[in-house]
Amino acid sequence: MRQILLLAHRVPVGGAFTLNDLAGGGGRMDEVARVVSTAFTLSNDLRRDVEVTILFEAEPPPRARRMRLDGRRLKFLNPDERSTAALLKNALVRSAGVDRDVEASPGLVVGPASPIDELRAFAGTPGTMWLTEGGAPIDGDDTLGGSFRAILSDPTDPTVGEVEAIRTAGARPRSLGRRSLRSSQCVTALHHIADAAEGSPATEAGRVADQGPV
Ligand SMILES: C[S@@+](CC[C@H](N)C(=O)[O-])C[C@H]1O[C@@H](n2cnc3c(N)ncnc32)[C@H](O)[C@@H]1O
Repeated sequence: MRQILLLAHRVPVGGAFTLNDLAGGGGRMDEVARVVSTAFTLSNDLRRDVEVTILFEAEPPPRARRMRLDGRRLKFLNPDERSTAALLKNALVRSAGVDRDVEASPGLVVGPASPIDELRAFAGTPGTMWLTEGGAPIDGDDTLGGSFRAILSDPTDPTVGEVEAIRTAGARPRSLGRRSLRSSQCVTALHHIADAAEGSPATEAGRVADQGPV
């Protein structure tokens, strides 16, 4: 399973923004939508072994929202950024002012949450990495069998309180290189590394076949 937690710092939590201004009034919903799209979509297919949790924390509880997208049941996710942003925005609108989880569309559940508590719980699960430019390089243990758990932030870096929560909970700081990448580019790189790590028996068989008759 591949699990991603995304910190969305500036997206209006009630979905009160226009699809024509995702980067401005939408609080960088353009990049949040790209992360979701990159996490789940393949060429003409969906990755089903992916879960994405987004913490919408531009306002504190009780207005802050947690959104969970489960690839096993997800529907209505198209590859373009605008329709992905619309799917997420509609879920936020449906959830606004509601004090319980709502399945806004198949495989997409949204509800009230305490972002810092959610972050702490996710970061505290063994094997979780925190993607940060200053971390140690990702190694084989981080994507064993093609699985991973990763925390990343939107174009705004994690707050001091979030960094402390991540560190205290024990998530491993991991880097994808010295260059600062876009959040969605980090997801592409992670999938690439994890795809290479999964199915090692098949990889071994392929290597033998490549060598020709022995
Ligand atoms: C656009 S970056 C955040 C802003 C960036 N620190 C800057 O100075 O502009 C978004 C997120 O992607 C992740 N990220 C970006 N580059 C990375 C790298 N080289 N290694 C690991 N994570 C990275 C981090 O989680 C980061 O918070």
